[in-house]
Amino acid sequence: MAAVLPLADLKHQVRPGSWVNSIIKGDCVAALEALPDHSVDAIFADPPYNLQLGGTLHRPDQSLVDAVDNDWDQFASFQAYDAFTRAWLLACRRVLKPNGTIWVIGSYHNIFRVGAIMQDLNFWLLNDVVWRKVNPMPNFKGRRFQNAHETMIWASRDAKAKGYTFNYDALKASNDDVQMRSDWLFPICSGGERLKGEDGKKVHPTQKPEALLARVIMASTKPGDVILDPFFGSGTTGAVAKRLGRNFVGIEREQDYIDAASARIEAVEPLGKAELTVMTGKKAEPRVAFNTLIEAGLLRPGQVLTDHKRRWSAIIRADGTLAAGGDAGSIHRLGAKVQGLDACNGWTFWHFDDGQGMRPIDELRVVIRNDLAKLD
Ligand SMILES: C[S@@+](CC[C@H](N)C(=O)[O-])C[C@H]1O[C@@H](n2cnc3c(N)ncnc32)[C@H](O)[C@@H]1O
Repeated sequence: MAAVLPLADLKHQVRPGSWVNSIIKGDCVAALEALPDHSVDAIFADPPYNLQLGGTLHRPDQSLVDAVDNDWDQFASFQAYDAFTRAWLLACRRVLKPNGTIWVIGSYHNIFRVGAIMQDLNFWLLNDVVWRKVNPMPNFKGRRFQNAHETMIWASRDAKAKGYTFNYDALKASNDDVQMRSDWLFPICSGGERLKGEDGKKVHPTQKPEALLARVIMASTKPGDVILDPFFGSGTTGAVAKRLGRNFVGIEREQDYIDAASARIEAVEPLGKAELTVMTGKKAEPRVAFNTLIEAGLLRPGQVLTDHKRRWSAIIRADGTLAAGGDAGSIHRLGAKVQGLDACNGWTFWHFDDGQGMRPIDELRVVIRNDLAKLD
């Protein structure tokens, strides 16, 4: 079973990080306050919807609709809901790393209030992603449109947050080389994935589909990251995080949900390292300075570089610059200068002779990057 931590124990944890990969039992605001500053890489929050249901709902055949009428979804007023939302969002903001991001999912009942409060608290909205349901519940009364989507707000900690994870290249490659859009089509959670009790009833009324969480996690986290879910429910975030080689911390106040989530996560087999490697584009590759090639002995001071047709040449100096005629500068600046251009990519312009032909110095940069990758 995944470890379960009573809130009282969490406050006395001596080992830093001992709450990682466990479910904290208790109110999320109190639990969040017991976690260290800047300790999680990402947050997925599926808070109460505050559905404001007025009485029971029946289908045309008079059978009862299994609506969300649980105590945890009841708030006395919009003001009470807003005060609660402000408290848990503020607490989340403190535990989120400066380059971390938060996802909050909701319906028309709550997402606009949540979004406004997020902006008031200085979160910076990056996208609203619409989860369009393949198989939504009908509108039984026929007096409104069928409610066929939920909205997820994705935000960074503030407007200046830099370096947040967005696996753009991998998402695009997985989408037939087309940019991933902000409207996602998934079925609601059903079939074998839906947790059921011995009585055949759903364990949790709002269990989210694993495919939805998988896309959220693959888009905005890296293997090894810690993902916090302050409204853990049946543990969808934990199950998917474990499968995808990420860590989780869940907070939930209902023991029945904790028991179901814990058993569910225990049964998950994580994927292997090879399957989890995230594809990156050129922008994400580590920066390698020209001087590194000299320091690594791949090029030497005094060596001559030329363009691939040997029209222009320059000599490598010990300080990592190139010199030609009376000019000196970086590989880029001197490449531009000799051609009379404003700019030049020195990595592809300058070539060296390896005894068998002319090769761009960019190939030596790849050698360094491959060596760096082996150190990971
Ligand atoms: C919308 S459900 C989340 C469902 C979850 N995403 C899943 O896939 O199973 C919200 C959950 O938050 C829990 N909850 C509500 N208020 C809470 C609070 N103040 N502290 C901790 N948990 C809370 C509820 O018990 C419920 O399980």
